[in-house]
Amino acid sequence: MPKTILVTGGAGFIGSHTCVALAAAGYLPLVLDNLGNSDRRVLDRLARISGVAPEFIEGDVRDRAMLDRLFAERPIAGVIHFAGLKAVGDSVADPIGYYDNNVHGSFVLAAAMQAAGVRILIFSSSATVYGDPDSSPIPESAPLRPANPYGRSKLMVEQALGDLQRADASWRIGLLRYFNPVGAHETGLIGEHPQGRPNNLMPFVCQVAVGLRDQLAVHGGDYPTPDGTGVRDYVHVMDLAEGHVAALRHAESQPGLVTVNLGTGLGASVLDVVKAFERASGRKIAYHIGPRRPGDVPAYWGDPTLAQDTLGWRATRSLDAMCADSWRWQQGNPRGYEG
Ligand code: NAD
Ligand code: UFG
Repeated sequence: MPKTILVTGGAGFIGSHTCVALAAAGYLPLVLDNLGNSDRRVLDRLARISGVAPEFIEGDVRDRAMLDRLFAERPIAGVIHFAGLKAVGDSVADPIGYYDNNVHGSFVLAAAMQAAGVRILIFSSSATVYGDPDSSPIPESAPLRPANPYGRSKLMVEQALGDLQRADASWRIGLLRYFNPVGAHETGLIGEHPQGRPNNLMPFVCQVAVGLRDQLAVHGGDYPTPDGTGVRDYVHVMDLAEGHVAALRHAESQPGLVTVNLGTGLGASVLDVVKAFERASGRKIAYHIGPRRPGDVPAYWGDPTLAQDTLGWRATRSLDAMCADSWRWQQGNPRGYEG
């Protein structure tokens, strides 16, 4: 009997790719999503990739009564919790909204799990909990000093889940700190489609390549990095998805809490990404160097050693593959799931 895994936020970017990895690993993903930042048509695409669409429940993780029913009715073996808001700028403008969704939502979910006796929880944290690090690669033991409400919401949940596991040692918790997820499934059937003007680099580059935007504004060309542009640890979303399966398997094998970075351990600059995307797409990416973006950190990348040692996971897909897969998705779906 395949085990049912509740995937909150499973219609979103990382969640949908994780549904593919879960199905490939023999699990039954059950998606719970309020569709606040996603499109239900992703489910048909998942059916085309995996042979069957995951079961979908439209609902909100803050709805305790709905969660209680769900846990009572389904044989849920564990939860991967992606549901949350992720735009740093919005979190500065609406901190309470962010704490309500990300922190309160996680508390309602954990309480419902506690009541139902479900003890396996994999949580989407972020490298943003490190803030501006002293040095890179960043180990998990680095100081935690998030610089905005979004990052603080992730750290609060990490800390609360740590307390929960200390209070009840039967919990099996994975806190996964993602670096910069990009790319798409290699079929080009699912991917990331931000609403409105993209904040993040890769979706913006994709939209320039496909002609939706004129040119990329590179946010700063005078950073103390090899080419002056910001450096990040871009990680392919399918590598990330497989990292969740590895974390789930680890949680199944033993109680406890693990906190791991999910990144490649390699830094790439904005111009490295532009060049890789030009190679992958055969298109020229027009850009200009603009001012620095307030709040940006010059450079950081993760130390992936602990993920390898504890989960047996490491990222295998290159920056060229990330760009090629992003491009395939963008070309085939210039308006996202609208076609
Ligand atoms: P996403 O917005 O594509 O996916 C999140 C999904 O959760 C969406 O489908 C949204 O509709 C749903 N959702 C939001 N609030 C909900 C709620 N209260 N109840 C039910 N569903 C809800 O974002 P993503 O990039 O896939 O990110 C997934 C998780 O990973 C988030 O928690 C995010 O903070 C975290 N994360 C993302 C990044 C990144 O750069 N993409 C980096 C680090 C961490
Ligand atoms: N950049 C540009 N032009 C753009 C967009 C981005 O030059 O139009 C640059 C940024 O200045 C930065 C790099 O590209 O140097 C990456 O920027 P992103 O906005 O793609 O990603 P960030 O590193 O700023 O942040 C992302 C997520 C956060 C998450 C963090 C985790 O947006 O939510 O990764 O490491 F917390």
